[in-house]
Amino acid sequence: RIAGPAGLVIFGVTGDLAKRKLLPAIYDLANRGLLPPSFALTGFARRDWSTEDFAKIVHDAVREHARTEFSERTWEQLASGFRFVQGEFDDDAAFDTLAETVAALDAERGTGGNHAFYLSVPPRSFPLVLNQLKRSGLSEPTTDAWRRVIIEKPFGHNLESARELDDVVSEVFPEDSVFRIDHYLGKETVQNILAMRFANQLFEPVWNNHYVDHVQITMAEDIGIGSRAGYYDGIGAARDVIQNHLLQLLALTAMEEPFSFDAGSLRREKEKVLSAVRLGDDLATSTARGQYAAGWQGGEHVRGYHEEDGISPDSVTETYAAMRLEVDSRRWAGVPFYLRAGKRLGRRVTEIAVVFKRAPHLPFDLGSSGELGQNAIVFRVQPDEGVTIRFGAKVPGTAMEVRDVSMDFGYGNAFTENSPEAYERLILDVLLGDPPLFPHQREVELSWQILDPITEFWESHGRPEAYRPGSWGTAGSDEMLARDGRRWRMP
Ligand code: BG6
Repeated sequence: RIAGPAGLVIFGVTGDLAKRKLLPAIYDLANRGLLPPSFALTGFARRDWSTEDFAKIVHDAVREHARTEFSERTWEQLASGFRFVQGEFDDDAAFDTLAETVAALDAERGTGGNHAFYLSVPPRSFPLVLNQLKRSGLSEPTTDAWRRVIIEKPFGHNLESARELDDVVSEVFPEDSVFRIDHYLGKETVQNILAMRFANQLFEPVWNNHYVDHVQITMAEDIGIGSRAGYYDGIGAARDVIQNHLLQLLALTAMEEPFSFDAGSLRREKEKVLSAVRLGDDLATSTARGQYAAGWQGGEHVRGYHEEDGISPDSVTETYAAMRLEVDSRRWAGVPFYLRAGKRLGRRVTEIAVVFKRAPHLPFDLGSSGELGQNAIVFRVQPDEGVTIRFGAKVPGTAMEVRDVSMDFGYGNAFTENSPEAYERLILDVLLGDPPLFPHQREVELSWQILDPITEFWESHGRPEAYRPGSWGTAGSDEMLARDGRRWRMP
């Protein structure tokens, strides 16, 4: 799968995402031989830069963040296709220059008229950039050349704004040219959920409410919000990662087998799950939220959310969110899906744990521990990528004693192939026009439909509870599970 002739224009090329992810991903793709020699990259930004200045920024980003070895040859070939256009988003002349630059690339570089536009900009700039793409004719495909747009989340901050945003996008690009990035879908381990479930006979027979007790989906980060106050405050953990990453993980875990792996079938099955998600009757007890306090983490004193730069001391934005959801289907009726996500937690880990019911009868001595845990299948999404299966085994010795053990599959041990970074895979898929790893607008809307009642409830009910940095979230979140007779896993 090698991309055909194409150019990519990035808006927001001076931003953090471009530096840490997009530019290194483009270089890595080139270094792996997945971009054609004709590939061209155009940066568009307000800074008064020359193409050489732009190349230097890309170079620094690549040296710092690329995954593959630096190769002079790759770099020179790639950099010869760099262009930079300076301008504001409301500057018609700058977009006219961009249109000329892009047209010139077709002739000079052989991009064949195929161009993708990456909107790595705050959502408030989307309408301006999209309208400029339309006005300048850049969004217009021809009979033998495509034009695509890549949109970074947040896709709105609730259902209504998501629809408004989509109205703007669909004025300019048809749905099949819109690629919405949820970078979790580009992760190797997330794609493996479907491989595990549907390429094997072993798991699917027990993947239902006869055997599964509950599911826990955790996305924990040990970092605080850093310098992202402008983006994060007023958004919070639920909108930042539950609306997209965690609900996508839930959909992949709970969905029925798609008829094939084309985008239409996959999205249909995910949509069915998202439409069947039900919230608890009492949001005060089926959700929890928190804000990290100041304290010690990893031997270092860290600031509380309220003391972070750019955060007002009375901000009620949650940095931790947890919720209990159910999926109203024959397969999942009565099985809670517990979701939690937060910053400044014990460590960085994302996992999905499918926890099974206890064996109905135990004819054994359980030994000194007294209690056997529940069987579990844990998809370790990151950082220690793999799958763990937990079960009871006989303790060696003369007595018939049983204890919990685990069986691990780790990518590092099982495979020698190295995995592309999520953004590499996603950018390549855009250039190839391959949509399965991109959520459809319907999924985005269904996810907001799930989340809106929760965030609205929170807005009118008190404040987030403080939690200690380095802990696993709030007391309220532990109580939420305790009420159901369960406990969060310690990842
Ligand atoms: C982003 C969120 O989508 O995902 C960030 O906006 C978060 O707040 C990031 O830090 C985490 O991504 P990853 O790939 O490191 O888990």
